[in-house]
Amino acid sequence: MRIIIINIVIFLCIIIDSATSWRFKGKERSPVILIPGDGGSQVEAKLNKTIVPHYLCEKTSDYFNIWLNLELLVPIIIDCFIDNMKLIYHNDTRTTTNTPGVDIRIPGWGDPLSVEYLDPSKASPGSYFKDIGNMLVNDMGYVRNLSLRGAPYDFRKAPNENEEFFVKLKTLVEETYVMNNKQPVTLIAHSMGGPMTLIFLQRQSQKWKDLFINSLVTLGAVWGGSVKALKVFAIGDNLGAYVLRESILKDQQITSPSLGWLLPSKLFWKNNEILVQTQSKNYTLLDLEQFFNDINVPNGWEFRKDTEKYQEDFTAPGVEVHCLHGAKVGTVERLYYKPGVTVDGYPLLILGDGDGTVNLRSLEGCLHWQGKQKQKIYHQPFSGVDHMEILRNATILDYIKTILTVAT
Ligand SMILES: *[C@@H]1O[C@H](CO)[C@@H](O)[C@H](O)[C@H]1NC(C)=O
Ligand SMILES: *[C@@H]1O[C@H](CO)[C@@H](O)[C@H](O)[C@H]1NC(C)=O
Ligand SMILES: *[C@@H]1O[C@H](CO)[C@@H](O)[C@H](O)[C@H]1NC(C)=O
Ligand SMILES: *[C@@H]1O[C@H](CO)[C@@H](O)[C@H](O)[C@H]1NC(C)=O
Ligand SMILES: *[C@@H]1O[C@H](CO)[C@@H](O)[C@H](O)[C@H]1NC(C)=O
Repeated sequence: MRIIIINIVIFLCIIIDSATSWRFKGKERSPVILIPGDGGSQVEAKLNKTIVPHYLCEKTSDYFNIWLNLELLVPIIIDCFIDNMKLIYHNDTRTTTNTPGVDIRIPGWGDPLSVEYLDPSKASPGSYFKDIGNMLVNDMGYVRNLSLRGAPYDFRKAPNENEEFFVKLKTLVEETYVMNNKQPVTLIAHSMGGPMTLIFLQRQSQKWKDLFINSLVTLGAVWGGSVKALKVFAIGDNLGAYVLRESILKDQQITSPSLGWLLPSKLFWKNNEILVQTQSKNYTLLDLEQFFNDINVPNGWEFRKDTEKYQEDFTAPGVEVHCLHGAKVGTVERLYYKPGVTVDGYPLLILGDGDGTVNLRSLEGCLHWQGKQKQKIYHQPFSGVDHMEILRNATILDYIKTILTVAT
């Protein structure tokens, strides 16, 4: 008990001390919480398995970093990785579990480093919000764990299985507000973190948002899904790492309900638009169930049914929004299987406008809120900046800096 009290006292002293020096700078800047997208949180696994896919795979372990640990993404070992990272869907409860004997946890709640770097060793392929974090700390005097925080979550799962995240985020916002001399908080969200934050804000009262939220800054937010998600269900994705084969990671990716949530939204795609073209059949939004059966991923349709309600509620967030995204980067808008090639084969990717991952219409989704809320919606596309480049491009970092710089 005494140790706990001493710790609390020390903790409070640290807070008061930092908060004071913060105030002494004479600039009351809004504290920041970073909210990552798909793949943007660290993940730890602990094993106690009886069955493994290969004799080289470990059966037991303490918690270890599993996500984007490049040592695990090599031949054979990657099979162990996929078995440990995949989810098993139960269509009776509409929920998922890990492979038996695998325990997964998301470390570092509140700690910005857990979303600045995906690989705790800080190896560069795993850097994520790193440049934004460094800019805030080095150029603007933000302090990690005090005025700069992180909100990681299990990105494999859709909102229906991330209820705890929304509850914890509310507490994190309130706590950060208090720790920073009652300064309202700025939320910076990337990719799938955009719609995650939208759901969070939709659930709060206007009074709460007026008190606790300064603004929402979104970077490449997936407001209305993306055809890329269909492509991942069909052929997988190499996550931009050219050493990896798409088809290998596919076995894990297609088990993620969140990927079903990111499918093109009915609010943004018309029922007569062809998403997948083959010689014998064209698939539109109305044929998704058929498509998932034809590619032999029937759970994709279950994920869609479980998550569509989140896409359909596109109520404005009720806070000031800075909606930033890339544009004019080739982005898949249709899968085209040449005559003679079935959906088991490999399609040509027909490209349209977007940021390389998300179609333009989805990135621009925030424009629909103009006139639907009294707070301002600022919208700014950045030509030639792709979905990941937006996290490090100097023009965007400057823009974020400007938003957070208070006029004195
Ligand atoms: C591992 O699982 C076995 C059952 O398969 C159980 O008896 C054992 O207690 C577990 N070990 C740990 C450390 O949890
Ligand atoms: C659940 O899956 C089983 C086997 O895959 C299937 O027979 C059953 O119809 C499914 N139930 C529902 C409610 O979708
Ligand atoms: C933030 O706090 C956590 C938990 O107290 C600690 O483990 C972590 O090292 C801290 N991070 C920084 C950057 O100070
Ligand atoms: C699919 O759509 C294309 C382009 O609109 C069209 O030319 C083709 O005839 C359609 N194929 C089928 C099988 O309906
Ligand atoms: C950053 O974005 C700006 C604005 O779109 C663009 O002009 C510039 O080339 C980008 N910088 C890099 C290094 O890609």
